[in-house]
Amino acid sequence: MCGIVGYIGREQAAPILLEGLARLEYRGYDSAGLAVLDGEKGLQVVKAKGRLRELAGRTEGGALVPGAVGVGHTRWATHGAPNDVNSHPQVSQSGRIAVVHNGIIENYARLKAFLEEEGVSFASETDTEVAAQLIGYYYRGDLLQAVGQALNRIEGAYALGIVCADEPDKLVAVRKDSPLILGRGAGFQMLASDVTAMIRYTRDVCYLDDGETAVLTPEGVQIYNAFGRPVEKETVHVDWEISAAEKGGYEHFMFKEIMEQPKAIRDTVSPRIREGRVVLDELELTREDLENLDRLYIIACGSSYHVGMAAKYILEKLLRIPVEVTLASEFRYCTPIVTQRTLALVVSQSGETIDTLAAMREARRLGARIFSIVNVVGSSIARESDGVLYTWAGPEIAVATTKAYSTQLAAVYLLAIRCAELLGRVDQEEYRAMVAGLEALPGQVEEILKDTEKIQYYASIYFNHDSMFFIGRNIDYAVGLEASLKLKEISYIHSEAYAAGELKHGTISLIEDGTLVVALAGWDPLFDKLMSNVREVKARGADVLGVTTRARASAMAQGVDSTISVPDVFPLYLPSVEVVPVQLFAYYVALMRGCDIDKPRNLAKSVTVE
Ligand code: G6P
Repeated sequence: MCGIVGYIGREQAAPILLEGLARLEYRGYDSAGLAVLDGEKGLQVVKAKGRLRELAGRTEGGALVPGAVGVGHTRWATHGAPNDVNSHPQVSQSGRIAVVHNGIIENYARLKAFLEEEGVSFASETDTEVAAQLIGYYYRGDLLQAVGQALNRIEGAYALGIVCADEPDKLVAVRKDSPLILGRGAGFQMLASDVTAMIRYTRDVCYLDDGETAVLTPEGVQIYNAFGRPVEKETVHVDWEISAAEKGGYEHFMFKEIMEQPKAIRDTVSPRIREGRVVLDELELTREDLENLDRLYIIACGSSYHVGMAAKYILEKLLRIPVEVTLASEFRYCTPIVTQRTLALVVSQSGETIDTLAAMREARRLGARIFSIVNVVGSSIARESDGVLYTWAGPEIAVATTKAYSTQLAAVYLLAIRCAELLGRVDQEEYRAMVAGLEALPGQVEEILKDTEKIQYYASIYFNHDSMFFIGRNIDYAVGLEASLKLKEISYIHSEAYAAGELKHGTISLIEDGTLVVALAGWDPLFDKLMSNVREVKARGADVLGVTTRARASAMAQGVDSTISVPDVFPLYLPSVEVVPVQLFAYYVALMRGCDIDKPRNLAKSVTVE
């Protein structure tokens, strides 16, 4: 959460910073600000509550803030309400040092008390101001040294961009547990929380590691490790097109990303199927490794956790290995049973979710081997894993994930097939069917996307409801969890997902005349049981929208009010086709309710605070 960007070069910094912030707005969007250094005017700071357009308006697109060095910030408030004062950049008492920050300074209260005793007065409620003031407190004409001294006292997670009016020829960047990427250009350098903020200007980037400090000048970058020793870092070329991070004629990123799912799944799967076999070069995995496993932990948050839920059903069924799916925020504090024989599979789109990263480190500390499924190349989780299965969804901008979720599922299928083969759990015929099914999947998702009108129609019937329920069994239940999250995060309708068999233990009391229940019934072995649950809610007045396979569509239609059918896929891949109509349903419902679909209230895409 929060996006930071910095520029030093020969162009006017402010318009470049605003453009970068526009691409980082998905990380937080309750306020934004800029600090730019100018030879004549010194340090100028402009901040504005609300969306970035407020800041752009206030600075006339950056024209009112001249200067070729600066930092910018888009905020997701943690300490203090979103307002002009609490927005970043935060400045030192002298007004000569400005800081933008992504993360949380955990010991900020103690540091603030110390500084106040030393006579420093604070303007904001933020933890970030403590960093700015502390650097100012130590500043004796050497910014790098002051930053080093301040960091020795700061605890927590941070990516900082720092400018100082007395040293206008440099921009300082530091990171610990929050992402920070440097962009290398001819005559300019940049820093940002995410590559998308600088891709228009440069594709040559380098990833700062924890504890590293970088000094950027127009000509180049010098990076120091935690001990202050210079380090050389590899520059990586990013090869995706800027259009991948633009709306391309669509009204919303979310819709565009839903539509991109067939390609994203294909890009994830195709390179890993060679001559009919699944090849996962990136994971060192043997039969002995698998036979030795005492358990597989899947660790994730949000939608990635829901992928983990689906994966549990799939992997346990296929591999007969115990799979435990744990929310990353719980894993750290639940005394997990991890041994040298445990494998942890970490799932994350961003590769930066702080809870997931921390849980992963805890799993490693306890002895587990770590594999991950990650979308953002070079992210912290990817870099700290023993093996990473990248999803090739491309940049995902909408806060509510769609295509990344779908590619994570595809990565799980690939892993499942490979492990089943290694363990000898499938015969040749089943193996071929699984591979062929996976290759067919993008086309089957495409079929659903060709006919969105019916789903739009159902959304128009139900969009005014206050509350909705999603029920399913087995992997249908895992999809229900994701469906419910999608709906609530973008439409603000209260919704719950229930394992259908659990309804009668409480939730059924909430069913009354006209309550919408979405029944997911793709998992064939439990179709009849699910239909019994449908009858139970119908008997209490619910409207039921059924989602099932074509093979079961007419049977389902007899028991529900409306039916959406999806292609008959290889059964374990059902989540991939079932999720698409419910994503679209959530999208259209939110559209009809006039919600800000790509930037839902209170949320951020990349959650880098605990
Ligand atoms: C946020 C996003 C979700 C995402 C979750 C985990 O809440 O809005 O879409 O599933 O973080 O993020 P990750 O990047 O670790 O998958």
